[in-house]
Amino acid sequence: MKQIALTGIKPTGQPHIGNYLGMIKPALELAEDYQALYFIADYHALTTVKNKKELEELTYQVTATWLALGLNPDDVIFYRQSDIPEVFELAWVLACFTSKGLLNRAHAYKTIVEDNVAAGREEDKGINTGLYTYPVLMAADILLYGSHVVPVGLDQQQHLEITRDVAMMFNNNYREVLVVPEAVIRKEVMTITGLDGRKMSKSYNNVIPIFAPANQVRKQVMRIVTDSKRPEEPKDPDACNVFAIYRHFADRDAIDAKRQLYIDGGLAYGDMKNELYELLETTFSAQRNQYNALMEDRKELDKVLENGAEKARAIAVPIMRKVRKAVGVTGAR
Ligand code: TRP
Repeated sequence: MKQIALTGIKPTGQPHIGNYLGMIKPALELAEDYQALYFIADYHALTTVKNKKELEELTYQVTATWLALGLNPDDVIFYRQSDIPEVFELAWVLACFTSKGLLNRAHAYKTIVEDNVAAGREEDKGINTGLYTYPVLMAADILLYGSHVVPVGLDQQQHLEITRDVAMMFNNNYREVLVVPEAVIRKEVMTITGLDGRKMSKSYNNVIPIFAPANQVRKQVMRIVTDSKRPEEPKDPDACNVFAIYRHFADRDAIDAKRQLYIDGGLAYGDMKNELYELLETTFSAQRNQYNALMEDRKELDKVLENGAEKARAIAVPIMRKVRKAVGVTGAR
């Protein structure tokens, strides 16, 4: 039996090439060595996305993106979090083993509290309980399937520590019922540069969407911030935001040649941007067609996720039964 690798994808924005390089591509590679369970964390998104149409649309976009980029639903168990009712049952059980202080210290929550305090507002202003207990639901996502490894970005490290803590608290009180998972932290997530040189992120509005129409991708590429050096001037490739993205997609020889051209002088940023755009087109245009076709067929997307949910429940149900038995609820069932 292969070990289980599980990760959740929060549908809060249109997937961009930072997501692709930092998460999607490594996750698809990992799926070759593990039994992968990848799911759409729609109920986590509900802590912030409160518009029905938007949540539905984002869920389909994320689903279609992963499928178009090569996720094979015959190998990967690919499902919606909300299709597995057991996860909420486990979340309650785990909440009873999660000290409140642990949640008070969770970064996502603490940041909002600190912002409120700094602005002279009441501490918990604008914070819903779903946001506060977010880490508990996440622990349930992971522990419900006996996950061994959880590939996540650095920003999720603390959530994984909370998950491990809670699992150990539970196991200490009963017996070894839950698998204590390992985080697989992808540090490179932090280094994917956005249009303005900061980390590529929806919240900075500096992203290049993977499957936006070609003209929109082009527009974003043209917005990449550079200095104002003239073509003939020598430039530092490692200080250039265009090169920072280019080097993830071009082949070795092309990267070396470009690097030299920066250093020697003779490179115009406009040309470099055009080349990056062409490169992104070659990389993604066939998959974009597939993405568009999938987005036209929501029934098919629902079917894929429902099939995945069935397989996920086959793993979850016996584990939840073990948990119920361990804690002493529901009698002898
Ligand atoms: N919190 C994760 C994020 O924001 C998404 C997520 C939800 C997740 N449940 C998970 C990731 C379980 C890994 C495992 O990206």
